Amino acid sequence: MSRPLKDTAMQERLYGMYKTFFDKAEQERRWNPLRDVPYEKISAETPESVILCAETFCLVESYLPDYVSQGINVVRPYFGQAWFAANWAYEESKHSVALMEYLLQSKRRSPEYLFDLQSQLMQMKWEMPFATSRQMTIYGCFQEMATFVIYVKQEKRCKEVGDECLATIFRLNARDEIAHCRFYQDVVKVLLEEDRPGTLADLAFVAKNFTMPGVDIVPDYAARVEVMREEGKIDRAVFFQKIFFPCLSYLEVTRQELMEANAAERRAVSNVAAE
Ligand SMILES: [Fe+2]
Ligand SMILES: [Fe+2]
Repeated sequence: MSRPLKDTAMQERLYGMYKTFFDKAEQERRWNPLRDVPYEKISAETPESVILCAETFCLVESYLPDYVSQGINVVRPYFGQAWFAANWAYEESKHSVALMEYLLQSKRRSPEYLFDLQSQLMQMKWEMPFATSRQMTIYGCFQEMATFVIYVKQEKRCKEVGDECLATIFRLNARDEIAHCRFYQDVVKVLLEEDRPGTLADLAFVAKNFTMPGVDIVPDYAARVEVMREEGKIDRAVFFQKIFFPCLSYLEVTRQELMEANAAERRAVSNVAAE
């Protein structure tokens, strides 16, 4: 169920946020995965573990048709958010193209292998991990921040091994991911103003049930995560330290307040169950 349609003031705020996002993106962040990535600087020495990470992120980004179709529908009633989702889709589409071009141009993966893997991928379908637009917006904050953290680590690793091309791709992707995170966070700020207890309960719920996209659907995901080691894994400790607490601090929500909201929610649920 979506949150109820509110007055035009809220729609206007969301639209204003979308305009700010769009304008900044057009002015400062537009890039072309075919022209702005220095493919001539691909290093032949890049270790297979780094290549496998690039392949895995390319696969996770490749569920775009499911992310877009389901993600845009859940925010359909909110103009600013729906138009953001359309822009988001365009920006995300470049992430997988850049990674795919790297894998092909480096000749570390053949076209047959990659396109076979892409078709295998499409046999599974990504489903939204949460049901409401508010929960999905909160999920967006965490997921984009997690992807940002991972890509920044990958960029560092690529620099260490001297692959300037792959480092550039991760840097450009990471810059988009943090911009997406900020938009979602700003929407959550508005939602907190609109319904603080309900939004806090959703924040606690989404944090408790958070998983990265791709976990159950990318072929051999567990084995892939093993190779990623600390560069790509988001375990609970990393989630809290690098994603959840920084998000709370941006949202100006204290842990104490969140714990109280969570306890109140649990009491309400057990009261309903006892009736
Ligand atoms: Fe992305
Ligand atoms: Fe993103």
